[in-house]
Amino acid sequence: MTSPAVAHDDTLEDIHRRGFEEFREFVNPMIHLRAQLAGEPMAVAGTSGAQLRLADGALVEDLHGAQAFGHRHPAVTAAVQAWLASDAPSWYPSRVNPYAGRLARRLCERTGYGNAFFGCTGSDAVEAALKLARAVTRRPRILSLRNAWHGCTFGSVALMSEGIFRDPFGPHLPGAEALPRDDIDALRRALATGDVAAVVVEPIQLEGGVHALSPAYIEALCALTAEHGTLLVADEVQTGLGRTGRFAASEAWPRRPDALLLAKSLGGGLLPISAMLTHRSLWERAYGADFETAEAHNTTFSGNPPACVAALATLELIDDALLARIREDGEHFRTALRARLRDAALLADVRGDGFVLGLEVKPGDHPWLSFEHMGLPSLEGQPTTGLLLCHRLYRRGWYTFVCGHDWRVLRMQPRFDLPRERLDALVDDLGTEMDRLGALS
Ligand SMILES: Cc1ncc(COP(=O)(O)O)c(C=O)c1O
Repeated sequence: MTSPAVAHDDTLEDIHRRGFEEFREFVNPMIHLRAQLAGEPMAVAGTSGAQLRLADGALVEDLHGAQAFGHRHPAVTAAVQAWLASDAPSWYPSRVNPYAGRLARRLCERTGYGNAFFGCTGSDAVEAALKLARAVTRRPRILSLRNAWHGCTFGSVALMSEGIFRDPFGPHLPGAEALPRDDIDALRRALATGDVAAVVVEPIQLEGGVHALSPAYIEALCALTAEHGTLLVADEVQTGLGRTGRFAASEAWPRRPDALLLAKSLGGGLLPISAMLTHRSLWERAYGADFETAEAHNTTFSGNPPACVAALATLELIDDALLARIREDGEHFRTALRARLRDAALLADVRGDGFVLGLEVKPGDHPWLSFEHMGLPSLEGQPTTGLLLCHRLYRRGWYTFVCGHDWRVLRMQPRFDLPRERLDALVDDLGTEMDRLGALS
């Protein structure tokens, strides 16, 4: 049998020319088709001043949030380049890794925790917290909140909202159960049995539609988990690292969560890295007994050097002045948007915190504004207006998306250094397009 000919033309130029089509053919044709039908700025040619640059030179502002400092922040890129130019080993066979050590120290100094475990994805951080909670408490149950998004690995997916991201993959992790958000009585009843290892929550449910936990619920969460010896886990994969104008949103809670999860922009958006931070005493109860248990939870590339270097450079960027700016400019944006959309027929709500911005759009009544009419009957009943608004925003150079569990809500997470004038321009463009959409429906 002869093997197919392999063309060794993997230059960056050739990858940019043909790789988008190769993605369609060999990775996921439906993602490619969706991006094409929605008119997403898919064929990105490069970057320019933190933005995406398309083949025709047009610039696009990425509001997805993983790029908290825009694409290719110079400080992060330079730090990784300097590491590549050194002769540091790619990996430390003993697993005693100075880059992981330094990053853990910086994160602990910043947050008050005493121990860090590193993964590559947000889901890895969630898995680490679930295993920590089971190992510390030896209890079976794990609670999350309805409408949550915690990731797609088997442990994290058990905590996900019902629906296509969760249902096809059952049976799920035994003991996992979702409670209604902000229902203190349900929480009290669920914890009273004394067999709950952890409660895992997002301070603001992003993919669930940009809903913050109420202060009363947070207070009850902190008190009741402490009372019952249950670990409280804050999944701050979206809200952490300055996004709400605090280093971690849970800093403001009456009790520090037992584990804090960070990911997304930790590696400056350039390299994948996530962290589970916890108290040293908890880590020791789970993994501190002997040499064998010390390595009972690990991954090969935990704390890999280039990702840690990118993360150290990223942490340097998140100072108090930046956090204050995020709080002020985030508030300015929401106030300006509410004022601009006061009379918009399709406005349901504007909400968020810091640079987390949620715009809820009413579904239109007109029969044209339905997926059945658009020839996509399998999506019958899903609202279209949020997606149509995204489509119009792409044409104006804004890359945004609807929430994974709630297509009525656009979530926008601007880069932290987006100037205020650009936020005002976004308000203008949202206003113009909401007016147009309202006139159609
Ligand atoms: C709150 C939250 N937790 C966990 C995850 C999973 O992160 P990842 O996709 O990196 O596995 C996500 C992803 O968006 C998230 O929003």
